Amino acid sequence: MRRKAISLIAIIAVLVALGFWTSSRWDVWFSNPEEPAYVASNEPSRILLTFGDSTATSRNISWMCDSVVMPSYIELYDTTAHKLAQSIPAIGEVYESRSGKAAYYHGKLRDLLYGHTYKYRVATGEAVSEWHTFTMQQEGAPASFIYVGDVQDSIDGVANSLLKNAFKNNPDAEFLICGGDLTERPIDEYWAESFRTLDSIGQSMPVLTITGNHDYLKGIIGNLERRFSLIHSYFLDSMIGENQVFTTHYGDIQFFLLDSNREFPYLFTQREWLEKELIASKAKWKIVIAHHPLYSIRGSMNNLVQRWMFDDLVRKYGVDLILQGHEHAYARMTNEGSTPVYTVSHCSPKSYRIEFDDIFDKFGSGTRYYQKIHASNDTLYITAYDANNGTHYDSLLIVNNGNMKNIIDCGKNIREVVEFEPAPGSKKDAEFAERIKEYKEKHKDRF
Ligand SMILES: [Fe+2]
Repeated sequence: MRRKAISLIAIIAVLVALGFWTSSRWDVWFSNPEEPAYVASNEPSRILLTFGDSTATSRNISWMCDSVVMPSYIELYDTTAHKLAQSIPAIGEVYESRSGKAAYYHGKLRDLLYGHTYKYRVATGEAVSEWHTFTMQQEGAPASFIYVGDVQDSIDGVANSLLKNAFKNNPDAEFLICGGDLTERPIDEYWAESFRTLDSIGQSMPVLTITGNHDYLKGIIGNLERRFSLIHSYFLDSMIGENQVFTTHYGDIQFFLLDSNREFPYLFTQREWLEKELIASKAKWKIVIAHHPLYSIRGSMNNLVQRWMFDDLVRKYGVDLILQGHEHAYARMTNEGSTPVYTVSHCSPKSYRIEFDDIFDKFGSGTRYYQKIHASNDTLYITAYDANNGTHYDSLLIVNNGNMKNIIDCGKNIREVVEFEPAPGSKKDAEFAERIKEYKEKHKDRF
């Protein structure tokens, strides 16, 4: 009898503790900030050039205009061939979010010509945008692009000037990849901020984005609003069930985009898709983009489901590079000199506390980063820069010697910067400051 009473008390104590813990974490797990009311502009706005389908010669253009669907089209002019402008019909759809609605459009440009420059404008009803220009890559030429992890800029943030500087310093970069959480929250004013971030880049260079946890409305099962895919419109034709997966080619690279924020059964569907695509791939360079790092820098028990789902595939089928985000610091892992290379980076105003696991061979903390990747026939050159001042932070070269790939670590002699400003009174911050001190003492050669 006494034993039963003790067991009952223990169970009640556990349930009470669980209740307190759940209620203290409730907002973090489940609550969404309210979306302030908004009215869509009656001029075409938020124009975004993206990739189209799995071919290298496709592009999509999306935009937003008003809140009812009207006849809409893209006027496209091949300035290289001096051809007459073509009118490409757009598909429109009204999306009603929690506090407003807008009509979203996208048009599909297919079989574009390598090396040609195109001018375009978009039209909805009588309203017409200004002209924008983009240039297609040369066939067989090396490819360069800029990658940023989470941006999540605060309202009127500086990400636009950081990205413009990144492209100014890397004039050969031809497109932008965002590793999820480009937008702080799925509410219209943060979407507006994301378009300020992309302004004058996203109309003339294709932008490729994956989903991150901040793109989802929180709940017991996360919910990705349809406007995410209406904007990043290549997903509309490529998603499998509710999984935002996509693959495309550019030069010698094939990209594989994962939707790593999903629950277990969804990740399993993505695993099946990824395996099928990797088996079929003949690309020289295979790059996977995933928001959640398969090897976490925030603790060895994090993201185990994602690692279990995808890591054996990327190793088995010869993926060269996995670009990741989510953990708001910089890290790279080279598997003792063999591919795949895993990197984590972010370009956000927020830095997170990390662990310093020995499986990684370089860390960075306390600033924003961008990466530049350059792929040629036999080398993949992976670099990282401090986005705030353009300082060169890391470099790795993967050399394809036919039947073997070698990694040359060109970044190991670049001094690491691991900085963190502890909040007064925060025990966890103080512990992190102590961890940094120990890490710096242990790896004096890196500083
Ligand atoms: Fe994230």
